[in-house]
Amino acid sequence: MKYIIANWKAHKSLTEARNWMENLLAELPKNTHLVKRLEEQQVCLIICPPDPLIFPLRHYTFSQHNIFIGAQTLSHFESGSYTGETTAQSLAEFTRYAIIGHSERRHFFHETEEEILQKLILAVRYEIEPIHCVRGETDKIHALARIVAYEPDTAIGTGANASVNAVVDMRRRLKLNEHCHFLYGGSVTQYNCKEYLEHPEIAGLLIGSASLDPLHFLAIAEQA
Ligand code: PGA
Repeated sequence: MKYIIANWKAHKSLTEARNWMENLLAELPKNTHLVKRLEEQQVCLIICPPDPLIFPLRHYTFSQHNIFIGAQTLSHFESGSYTGETTAQSLAEFTRYAIIGHSERRHFFHETEEEILQKLILAVRYEIEPIHCVRGETDKIHALARIVAYEPDTAIGTGANASVNAVVDMRRRLKLNEHCHFLYGGSVTQYNCKEYLEHPEIAGLLIGSASLDPLHFLAIAEQA
């Protein structure tokens, strides 16, 4: 199975998000190959909008095969007096997936390895599948995560995507267990995605900028 994950980051209003979903679902039936791959669970699309948009976007996925809405992070606190936090418990009824440990969370919000581990524990406790992001060997790989996304800082939002060789080499250096789904993210576009998607050791892509346009996102998914 290939995971194609859209990380919208802090982009889109509710109206824009609805338009995105409507455009995606209007275009999707034209691509019978992708529709078949989704039905056969060979491809899984996960769209991660800002938190307030998770609930209103969810219903678009109900009648679809293998399309899900995910979260971009969750709190390292389980519950309690932590104003502004969104907990795994509160997300669990709406989302099956959450990105955890994204480079921007580590950088701008100073997330520590201990917090990331707590997030992974809480995600699993509330039956949310974590998509554990690492920037390379310097970040800890937590055995709890079944989906690991390698996103080198040099590639995120820079246009300088890592080569397939470098990605596969990192997979080996990270010593992931054999059941782990290993994804790549960083400046992926419809023009450079094919090589990653064709590689048997790369189980999918995490896409930022190119996921903001539903047709670009679909153009990537179609190649999976
Ligand atoms: P990018 O972002 O595709 O815009 O480089 C990827 C990510 O941060 O997940």
